[in-house]
Amino acid sequence: MVCLMFFSSTLFFGSSPSKITKASLDFERKKLGPYTKLVRNVNLEKLKNNYLFPEITRRELEHVEKHPNARLISLGTGDTTEPIPELITSEMSNFAHALSTVEGYRGYGLEQGNETLRQAIANTFYGNMRVKSSEVFISDGAQSDISRLQLLLGSGVSIAVQDPTFPAYVDSSVILGQTGHFNEATKKYQNVVYMPCGPKNSFFPDLTMTPRTDVIFFCSPNNPTGYVASRKQLLQLVNFAKNNGSIIIFDSAYAAFIEDGSPRSIYEIPGAREVAIEISSFSKFAGFTGVRLGWTIVPDELLYSNGFPIINDFHRIVTTSFNGASNIAQAGGLACLSSVGLKEIRSVLNYYKENRKILMETLVSLDLTFRAQVSDLVEKSI
Ligand SMILES: Cc1ncc(COP(=O)(O)O)c(C=O)c1O
Repeated sequence: MVCLMFFSSTLFFGSSPSKITKASLDFERKKLGPYTKLVRNVNLEKLKNNYLFPEITRRELEHVEKHPNARLISLGTGDTTEPIPELITSEMSNFAHALSTVEGYRGYGLEQGNETLRQAIANTFYGNMRVKSSEVFISDGAQSDISRLQLLLGSGVSIAVQDPTFPAYVDSSVILGQTGHFNEATKKYQNVVYMPCGPKNSFFPDLTMTPRTDVIFFCSPNNPTGYVASRKQLLQLVNFAKNNGSIIIFDSAYAAFIEDGSPRSIYEIPGAREVAIEISSFSKFAGFTGVRLGWTIVPDELLYSNGFPIINDFHRIVTTSFNGASNIAQAGGLACLSSVGLKEIRSVLNYYKENRKILMETLVSLDLTFRAQVSDLVEKSI
């Protein structure tokens, strides 16, 4: 069974140094001008500066200061490093140039996204999973959709998260007011269920010990551990959500790196359409971290306790807080999903998979303990 890939971002090692400067991290309460009468949002007041990536950057900077000649490979933020295939950028460029012509000019598009792209996403990633284009919402990235989903959920819900996991789930929850205060002793927020997912429990939560929450954020492959949940484990998760009347927000941003037949989507699991929303992204899949393009699936069958369809509310949230993804980025997304686009992307993905292999070989040579996918284990006899 599956895998720990250290940090998911390990795939992208060699990424350029972080753009965060020391000055931006060392916030001081300087009096820069006269105070207003605006009281700071109590939820933002609660938010601790424990966001993982600035912390990694802080440590990087500290190390470089002490060892100015060190050659540092960042395994922090999962940024991509390889150029986007030209076939894809030329589609974006053609689209952008056409905006200067009467025939090619386009203004606002559909808030939910270009219909052709929605259909292409449904076909490419959810072929036999009954996902309809009308259930696909194109976004400017999974991160923005995490916050939009929080807006949908409101401040009254309880959440559970893997521990560790991508920090945006908890941070957006704090900002929305779903949590209590940060406990300095435990380094955790009150009213959040943290589901341990470390080596002691093979990186999957013990659901028999997990209390009910309204929402379960679940990331597979998980960032930062890289653990990919198996089909059996995801079936347990879906049944757990069903029995508790909870919803799962499933983050499949790294799904393209799954190679061992484990589910790349929660909708591969029977019954998931009644309990799960899926967020995903072109960022890691196609090197679109800077271009910004992602999507969210909200199935028709997902209902509130009063029977109202959640998709209707998400549509309302998207039309109110977002006017649709950039049409240039969407043109790029469409090019990614053409048969030649997919072929080109596959070769870039292989480059990142090679990075993983090199890193594993290096760790083995250094006699460091780690876990890896079974396919890698077999290949390397580690
Ligand atoms: C698990 C996970 N979800 C979402 C995101 C954000 O993706 P996007 O670039 O689409 O906003 C990241 C980025 O690192 C991630 O690791």
